[in-house]
Amino acid sequence: MNDHRDAEASRLTIDYRNAMAAAVGPGHGVTDAMLDEMAPVVAEQHARLGAEHAAGGQRWMDLPSDTALVTEIETFAAEVRDRYENFILVGIGGSSLGAIATVQALTNPFRNVLPSETRGGPRFFVLDNPDPEKVAATLETVDLSNTLVNVVTKSGQTAETMANFLAVRQALEAAVGPERARQQIVATTDPAEGLLRALADQEGYRTFPVPPGVDGRMTVLSAVGMLPAAICGCDIGGLLAGARAMRARATTADVRQNPAYLLAALCILADTRLDKSILVTVPYADALFGLSDWFRQLWAESLGKRLSLDNEVVYAGQTPIKALGAIDQHSQIQLYTEGPNDKLISLIAVENYRAEVAIEDVPDGIPELDYLRGAELGRLLQREQLATAWALTEAQRPNFTIGVPTVDAAILGELFYLYELQTVMGGALLNVNPFGQPGVEAGKNATYALMGRDGYETLREELLAATGTESQYRLSSG
Ligand code: PA5
Repeated sequence: MNDHRDAEASRLTIDYRNAMAAAVGPGHGVTDAMLDEMAPVVAEQHARLGAEHAAGGQRWMDLPSDTALVTEIETFAAEVRDRYENFILVGIGGSSLGAIATVQALTNPFRNVLPSETRGGPRFFVLDNPDPEKVAATLETVDLSNTLVNVVTKSGQTAETMANFLAVRQALEAAVGPERARQQIVATTDPAEGLLRALADQEGYRTFPVPPGVDGRMTVLSAVGMLPAAICGCDIGGLLAGARAMRARATTADVRQNPAYLLAALCILADTRLDKSILVTVPYADALFGLSDWFRQLWAESLGKRLSLDNEVVYAGQTPIKALGAIDQHSQIQLYTEGPNDKLISLIAVENYRAEVAIEDVPDGIPELDYLRGAELGRLLQREQLATAWALTEAQRPNFTIGVPTVDAAILGELFYLYELQTVMGGALLNVNPFGQPGVEAGKNATYALMGRDGYETLREELLAATGTESQYRLSSG
């Protein structure tokens, strides 16, 4: 690990003026009194998190320190990067969204159609949904003899992932034979437990660990997110360095100084005191759309809980929506500006885009287009973001802006860690457990039952009885 990366300071900014009552009105914005009231609760929860971490809990906080893992992954990635033309990631939810966000943020959006010399690693395909059309198309598109497969599942048994993986594995075996197929598979799963672990041990797959004690949606800074990212040529050392920079910045208990606690407080106050039950994340960069997708899962699965920590039914959670600037100005912003005032809107502004496109030539004779002469597309997008923040504020819609100097590995690492800590603090402020996902598990178990998995017979009977019942509320075709 390079020392200069460790010395890196956090570069992210937050402007939350437009989330305050002074800007959007008392019924819609957070007040200083609300923040003051929340400050001791945040400080108390900060101390609790610190104590739990010191006692061996909150292990997600340690992931940015694992530079040995970075070295191991980079070594493996360097070996396979030029050897394979295609790379298929098989995983779903927390086992794929982080990798997708990272590759989207840090590589050319058209990397799959670039020639291999400039692509920086194999072409990247993701099989998350067990949609037969997409899986079949993927298997038809890639030359399997030249394909590396990374199957990722923490539990080692998720139906979608295991089904997709078995489909890919059989196609791979048919194409190259079982022995070579084994060498073209790398499994990321629990180091000791689960069906995939057992299969990997039996078949002799190369494996990387999903860190025990860390929920799937918090594993982007482990091999789950970093192995695919490194294979696609991303700077994973920089990613972790950025996460460490944010971790170092976020050690203060002060709700107004700690960026993660500030965002948690704003979101939870908006939700619970101002009826802003929806949180919209709008990056003004295509590269960060995957990040808002990743955050959507993190916020939804962590905070959407029926029971409080005191075991009371609370139906907690703030619904996260992903949007993209400026595209959604022509789709969603009308609703956000004039529809129900039930949203807090988080804009992500980029100071320097990694490329700029200038408009030199505007046709003569159409003076209305002259304002675009000499304009740059990045400037246009930045002004769209400023204009949207202003328009939302004018309409009394609370919003805040996260500013990033540019999209690079370190800033992405900062954002990942920021959002994780924000979410954990958000859970504390809502008095729910941000870890675990009982609602997801219920659906997973029902799927196993309907698919006839051993041990799920009673649930299967129950489900078949319920789904088979005739009902007046059901229309048949024709
Ligand atoms: O955050 C979580 O734990 C979940 O969203 C999981 O990532 C998702 O359900 C996939 O689970 P697994 O990695 O066990 O296949």
